[in-house]
Amino acid sequence: GDDEDLEARPPVVTVMGHVDHGKTRLLDTIRKTKVAEAEAGGITQHIGAYQVDTELEGTDRKITFIDTPGHEAFTAMRARGAKSTDIAVIVVAADDGVMPQTIEAINHAQAADVPIVVAVNKIDKEGANPQKIRQQLTEYNLVAEEYGGDTMFVDISARQNINIEGLLEAVLLTADASLDLRANPDMEAQGVAIEAHLDRGRGPVATVLVQRGTLRVGDSVVAGDASGRVRRMLDEFGEDVKEALPSRPVQVIGFTSVPGAGDTFLVVDEDRVARQIADRRRAR
Ligand code: GTP
Ligand code: NA
Ligand code: MG
Repeated sequence: GDDEDLEARPPVVTVMGHVDHGKTRLLDTIRKTKVAEAEAGGITQHIGAYQVDTELEGTDRKITFIDTPGHEAFTAMRARGAKSTDIAVIVVAADDGVMPQTIEAINHAQAADVPIVVAVNKIDKEGANPQKIRQQLTEYNLVAEEYGGDTMFVDISARQNINIEGLLEAVLLTADASLDLRANPDMEAQGVAIEAHLDRGRGPVATVLVQRGTLRVGDSVVAGDASGRVRRMLDEFGEDVKEALPSRPVQVIGFTSVPGAGDTFLVVDEDRVARQIADRRRAR
């Protein structure tokens, strides 16, 4: 599309950090805080990606969050995560300090030229030392604003729901200060598959992040060497949605096989074309 077709889109934020430093708990807390009313249906299952409504200085805003595992075996996921993201939130447990996967996550984000916000988590714990985290991270060129640098550090407790709003604000301020987040919604969708699995009842289910264009029920899609047609799309509440705009993660049902995590996806004109592309890729 033309430059004039570009419209503002929400930041896509990948949450990374060392194992057990609280990434998933943080995402659960954000989700509960921001979408409590919508949860009347009682959906409690963990999902790896969702979008929340928030506000900054009186303006309604959205943020998309993506979870990643901190276990050392998941280096490739963190590398991919850093690439498909606008901002990295690096979670560091204030009692544990900077650890190997903290550093690895920082390296991935910096290699991908992605701005970093540091969430200093577990400040409720005995032995928490948030200032020490700031000192440790200067070694990795992350200098806190209060020390004359340009990285926002936010002290939080995911468990006790402390200063979550401050973290969301830091994410939006960082986005506004350093990024021009726009995409053309009026084209066939493109994006990336974040995770995918085979569901017993539904068949292949893929969580995809739309990066450009609008994804719609009925679209013919190809992701890696998997193809299909979007039969249903589900949002973070498990509710059916008919379309997904740029920066929106949705669960897609309708692939005939399971795409790989990290595969790019695109919408094509017809099922036959999607199948041909997938077949060709599979043959390689
Ligand atoms: P991996 O996905 O395995 O890398 O871990 P994670 O970073 O997602 O950590 P997770 O959210 O699973 O939290 C690990 C443990 O820390 C859980 O028992 C959480 O309840 C606990 N935890 C997370 N945040 C806090 C916090 O702010 N304070 C305290 N005290 N505990 C926390
Ligand atoms: Na964990
Ligand atoms: Mg986790």
